[in-house]
Amino acid sequence: MTFDDLFLEGVQDIYDAEKQLTKALPKMAKAATSPELRAAFEKHLTETQGQVTRLEKVFECLGEKAKAKKCAAMKGLVEEGQEMIDSGADGDVLDAGLIAAAQKVEHYEISTYGTLRTWARHDGNAECEPPLRDPAGGESDRRSAHRPGGIQRQR
Ligand SMILES: [Fe+2]
Repeated sequence: MTFDDLFLEGVQDIYDAEKQLTKALPKMAKAATSPELRAAFEKHLTETQGQVTRLEKVFECLGEKAKAKKCAAMKGLVEEGQEMIDSGADGDVLDAGLIAAAQKVEHYEISTYGTLRTWARHDGNAECEPPLRDPAGGESDRRSAHRPGGIQRQR
């Protein structure tokens, strides 16, 4: 495996992860008790859809076909979110559990995009790095998570 292969597999992994998230976030939004938390999940969904589009630009830049490689980590994180939904918890307790699950997801995204941006810059793919940034300042370009945990702190 070359470094280029490793980078491409990383992009394929997060592409799959974002696609899994576009299916999971509506379920989390539906389960959320607080309207603010529901709105935060809906906003995250819109951002996630934008990230799928940006990742397609990265594939295009690399001259590769957009292809997803199963992201086992996101599968597990999404399962944990679903376990919370199925737990029977409700109200603030359910919301706290959903926020915790969402923050684990965000941290996976933050670390993955951070690594991919570094690899793009150092592996002769610098021109493919900009779509790995998030112009809206969403989680793909953030150093630490502020949302939806921010909602918890406001309450
Ligand atoms: Fe992954």
